[in-house]
Amino acid sequence: MNHYVMEVRNINKAFAGNEVLKDVSFDIIPGEVHTLIGENGAGKSTLMKIIGGIYSKDSGTILYNGQQVEFTSPIEAMQSGISIVHQELSLAENISVAQNIYCHREPKNSLGFIQWEKLYSMAHEVFEKMGIEIDPKVDAGTVSVAKQQLVEIGKALSHDSKVIIMDEPTSSLSDKEVEYLYSIIDNLKQQNVAIVFISHKLQEVFKVSDRITVLRDGQIIDTMLTSETNQDEVIHKMVGRHMDDLYPEKSKRVGDVIMHVEKFCCTDVYSDISFQVRKGEILGMAGLVGAGRTEIARGIIGADPRDSGTIRLDGKEVHIKNCRDAIANGIGYVTEDRKLLGLFQSMPVRWNIVSASLKKIQSAFGFIDNTAISSKAAEFIELMDIRPKDDSLHVVNLSGGNQQKALLAKWLCSDPKVLIVDEPTRGVDVGAKSHIHNYLRKLADQGIGVIVISSEQPEILGLCDRVLVISDGVLTRELDNSSSRLTQEDIMKYATGKGANDDR
Ligand SMILES: Nc1ncnc2c1ncn2[C@@H]1O[C@H](COP(=O)(O)OP(=O)(O)OP(=O)(O)O)[C@@H](O)[C@H]1O
Ligand SMILES: [Mg+2]
Repeated sequence: MNHYVMEVRNINKAFAGNEVLKDVSFDIIPGEVHTLIGENGAGKSTLMKIIGGIYSKDSGTILYNGQQVEFTSPIEAMQSGISIVHQELSLAENISVAQNIYCHREPKNSLGFIQWEKLYSMAHEVFEKMGIEIDPKVDAGTVSVAKQQLVEIGKALSHDSKVIIMDEPTSSLSDKEVEYLYSIIDNLKQQNVAIVFISHKLQEVFKVSDRITVLRDGQIIDTMLTSETNQDEVIHKMVGRHMDDLYPEKSKRVGDVIMHVEKFCCTDVYSDISFQVRKGEILGMAGLVGAGRTEIARGIIGADPRDSGTIRLDGKEVHIKNCRDAIANGIGYVTEDRKLLGLFQSMPVRWNIVSASLKKIQSAFGFIDNTAISSKAAEFIELMDIRPKDDSLHVVNLSGGNQQKALLAKWLCSDPKVLIVDEPTRGVDVGAKSHIHNYLRKLADQGIGVIVISSEQPEILGLCDRVLVISDGVLTRELDNSSSRLTQEDIMKYATGKGANDDR
């Protein structure tokens, strides 16, 4: 008896002549967490989609429980015990959370009608086991990105899976939810379920995995026992060189206030939020997932209505009722959800890059010049190092991390006065991450007001000159970080509301 639950041998895959996987072999043992790690575009998701029956391979074999298999659809793979938690959220937004979990498997009565109450209680049970609270009756599109990610995980758990592939499952979860996920993973291991884990967060990789396989440019570089390697070695194998985990220097010159946000209120979401953004600085917004930071950002750019509050740009009050007003006034917002709000998935990269800047590109007669679009796109593809460099590729065909770079490019191209970036490096590999950090610093140096919302505290501490801590919709503290002395504890104290009543 073979001890692998799955063996992938000599897989090759190309998209339109572009070789994405080259002779890839990979195996999975029951009860292990096997991490697949590699730079953006290395081919991780593609390999998993081949295993999960979503893509077909060009050549190679897949053995599952010692038998050769050819899954032709994800449903077939799922029925055989292989589930994928996708990197890009893939729930149907207009049906309930419960239906998403039990899609095509809803309990039905003898007449073939769905037994709704039973369906809801089944979904409720899944969440209970996971230790989380989500209403199974609401439409999936109405819950937060973090919750959608949890629903995806719940869906995989609801199948009696032998192999669960988790493609960046923690990218939008709060610390608490991540802890739940770790305990779910422990539980699954004990039941001999194999987990393939994909993540760009090295600390987490070392915490959860038994083995680590490094993929670079579509080729397997090495498979190692976690206990026999370290972060430096893994990074070296991933990028082919050593990397310093250095953040750019803090601001040397903080200038005038560019934007005043005053007394922003939205009932039950946030209240009395006032702050200023200055030229030359990067302002951080820290807090726990769900603290209301994204909502405040959406309030500023007019994506959601607010009850009261004013915005002044360069001293003048501006009235922003919708995103168009925000763009016209020079406020850009890089969303945390690149799929729903950020990018047009089935449009070419070049259109996405210029989509917030069309006014600037069009000629005096309102024509849009294709050459101008292509040259703008080329400039930003180069600047953000989007790979591949092909501007006609539809965004849906870019790897997750490269989609994130395209989203940033879109807003940079719009030449903003103030740029709000929400989880700017979500799903981005270590090399590209420091590239983005350096770039945000450069923007601040050029006089753009940069606001960074991030749940990764090292990112807030490493990048920001000043930090606003939001807890439960309230700005609990403004902290100076110009000398980089802040610690995670300082932030946590106010993020959890514990320090909220301290003297200011
Ligand atoms: N359907 C597709 N059509 C064309 N090219 C594709 C398609 N899917 C993926 N690719 C390309 O294959 C390469 C590998 O992409 P993949 O999504 O597997 O990367 P990844 O390792 O998961 O990266 P990330 O960490 O950014 O998620 C990329 O260059 C991507 O643009
Ligand atoms: Mg991927």
